[in-house]
Amino acid sequence: MRFRAVSIPILGITGTAPGTSPAAPLQDALHAYGIQAWHIGRLWNFTLALCALVFAAIVVACLFAVWRAPRADAATPPDLRSLAQPERRIHRTVAWAVGLATVGLLVLLAADVFTARALGRLPLQDAVNIELTGHQFWWEARYLDPDSKRQFVTANELHIPVGRPVIVTLRSKDVIHTLWVPNLHGKRDMIPGRTATLQFRADQPGTYRGQCAEFCGLEHAMMALLVEAEPNAQYEAWAEGQRRRAPEPATDAARRGRDLFLSKSCVRCHTINGIGATSALGPDLTHLASRTTLAAGMLPNDSSHLASWILDPQTLKPGVYMPVNRMRPDELHDLLAYLETLK
Ligand code: CUA
Repeated sequence: MRFRAVSIPILGITGTAPGTSPAAPLQDALHAYGIQAWHIGRLWNFTLALCALVFAAIVVACLFAVWRAPRADAATPPDLRSLAQPERRIHRTVAWAVGLATVGLLVLLAADVFTARALGRLPLQDAVNIELTGHQFWWEARYLDPDSKRQFVTANELHIPVGRPVIVTLRSKDVIHTLWVPNLHGKRDMIPGRTATLQFRADQPGTYRGQCAEFCGLEHAMMALLVEAEPNAQYEAWAEGQRRRAPEPATDAARRGRDLFLSKSCVRCHTINGIGATSALGPDLTHLASRTTLAAGMLPNDSSHLASWILDPQTLKPGVYMPVNRMRPDELHDLLAYLETLK
């Protein structure tokens, strides 16, 4: 079944008309931009409607009971007839209410089962395979390919083609994290020592903000993941760019910056393909300049934020594993000149 535009404005949960794509990053469980989120949204609509109906019925029953209750005063003795002779009608009403509540719960259970089955039926031909690993406090993404030379690694930002399924294999390096990109799908835990998968498809182009949804330590709230859904050709061009090695620096400053990267502590944690930096403790920086944010969606990726981040990540994101780096202004200038070539 294809993703269809749905609109149920009364309940506030809508799909979107084809062709309208969000301008700013969206993080909104009430707006589906992919078939999986749409199925979940439909279940939510239905649950909300049924529960609202039950709630309204209970309120009406309570009001009716209050209205019908005899007004007692000091002169009226309490009415104890129902203790001596139970009222048949009340028994029948309670039995009906229990029966209806049971049916309601069974209907919700059935809706839940049908939703889970619908989620499992996403066609997976021609899927993009991504292995996503949670770290304190960032995301490592490996784009898998049967040809290992075509695999590549990036961080904190996924690009996916619109209309093609994506199979994300979830892992964790340290503690439990949870992937949640609400516009595209529900949550799935990332548990150390285990793998799980999440399958979804974006049906509209746009930037969707994902968030770690399991408390994973001090900077849990600052662990965001941007998902850029774009037309297939644009996605393929991006992937081709990510497979390339880092470009050779063209200016003296950039060359000095590269040498600094290799001689300072940067090289002990980060990979840059093509210059012999291969550590995988921190994010892969081979195409750092192609990303829109730094520090897992926390800061915009521009030279002033990058400079602050390099010098003092502990003030910006306390508890993060990246240490404070002391360097002279001219060294910082050269390092930035090099990092900004990593498109
Ligand atoms: Cu990772 Cu919360």
